Amino acid sequence: MKYNLSNIKKSINLLNKDECVAIPTETVYGLAGNAYSDSATLKIYKLKKRPNKNPLIVHYNSLSMLENDCVTNSTFYKLYREFSPGPITFILKLKKENKISKNVTNKKKTLAIRFPSHPVAKKLLKSLKFPLAAPSANISTRISPVSKEDVLDEFGDKIKFVLNGGRSMIGVESTIIDLVGKPKILRLGGLERKKINIFFKTNLKYSDKSNNLNVPGQSKLHYSPGIPIKLNVTKANQNEAFILIKKRKKTFKNYYYISKTKNLKQAAKNLYKTLRKIKNNNYKSISVEKIPNIGFGEVINERLKRASIK
Ligand code: TXA
Ligand code: MG
Repeated sequence: MKYNLSNIKKSINLLNKDECVAIPTETVYGLAGNAYSDSATLKIYKLKKRPNKNPLIVHYNSLSMLENDCVTNSTFYKLYREFSPGPITFILKLKKENKISKNVTNKKKTLAIRFPSHPVAKKLLKSLKFPLAAPSANISTRISPVSKEDVLDEFGDKIKFVLNGGRSMIGVESTIIDLVGKPKILRLGGLERKKINIFFKTNLKYSDKSNNLNVPGQSKLHYSPGIPIKLNVTKANQNEAFILIKKRKKTFKNYYYISKTKNLKQAAKNLYKTLRKIKNNNYKSISVEKIPNIGFGEVINERLKRASIK
C-alpha cells in the first residue's frame, strides 16, 4: 500500500503534542495517543467515553521498546516470531520501572500489547519515540471502524485527525492471548483459533470471564449498532435488514450480503461495515441468517451475540 508521507508527518506532530489521532491497522482503526503521556491517554478515554476501568491496548513497533516496559517470556517470543506483526494481542506483566501512563492500565500490573502489520501503522510507530495506546476508534460499546469514513461517522469533528490507510483488511479486532500464567484466549479475533491451537499443540482455553476486567468478551453490550439483532433467522420481514452469507435466488432491498459464497473470512471483513450501513439506512432491527460456528464464523457469532444483548 502506498502511503501519504505528509499525512504521517502531520500525525507525528500531533502525537508529539499529546493529541489523539485515529490510525489504520489491519484489524480495525485505533484511536491513538502517546502511551507514556497522562494527558494524551486521558484524551482517548474522554473521546471514546470509555469507562476508565477498561485498560487500553498499547501498540509497539520494536521488541526493544517493549522490553523496557514488559516482562517477556519464551512463549511470548515464540508466538511473536510466528504471528507478529499481525492480529494478535498479548497480555504481559508490566515491569516495575515501566513508562506506561497509569491511565492506560488503571492500576493493573499487566499490559495488553500488539505489533500491528499495517504498513502505515508500522511507518508511524517507527517514527515515534513512544508506543501508542490505541483502543478501537469508536464510541464505547459501538461498532469498530474499518475505514477513515467510519471513524468520522463515530467522532465527526471531535477528532483532530484521521490518518487514512484504506479499508482494514481483517475487519475484526485482534485475538487476545493472556500470557500471564497458563496461556489462554481472552478474546476471539483476527488470528484464527485453529492456528493458535496448532501452535500450542493443544486447544487453548477461551475464557472471557477469566478476569474482572470489562473486556469485550464479558456479557456486556458491545460492538452494537444500537438496534436489536436476531440471530439464526431463516426468513426476515421486509422492514428489517437481513444479513446473509450466501447468495439467494431472489434478492430484496433489505438483503445485506457479507459474503455471497459462505466465505467466512470475507464475511468477517464485511461485518462492521455492513452493520454501520444498516444503522445509517435507519433500519430499526436486524435479522441474521445462521452462520456456521467455525473459523471466522465463530468470531462473527460471538460479536453478533454481544451486539444483540438488550
Ligand atoms: O485489533 C485490535 O486489538 C484493535 C486495534 C486498534 O489494535 N484494538 C482494540 O482495542 O480492539 P480495544 O480497546 O477496543 O479492545 C482491547 C481490549 C479492551 O476491551 C480491554 O478490556 C482489553 O483489551 N484489555 C486491555 N488491557 C488488558 C489487560 N491488561 N488484561 C486483559 N484485557 C485487557
Ligand atoms: Mg473496542
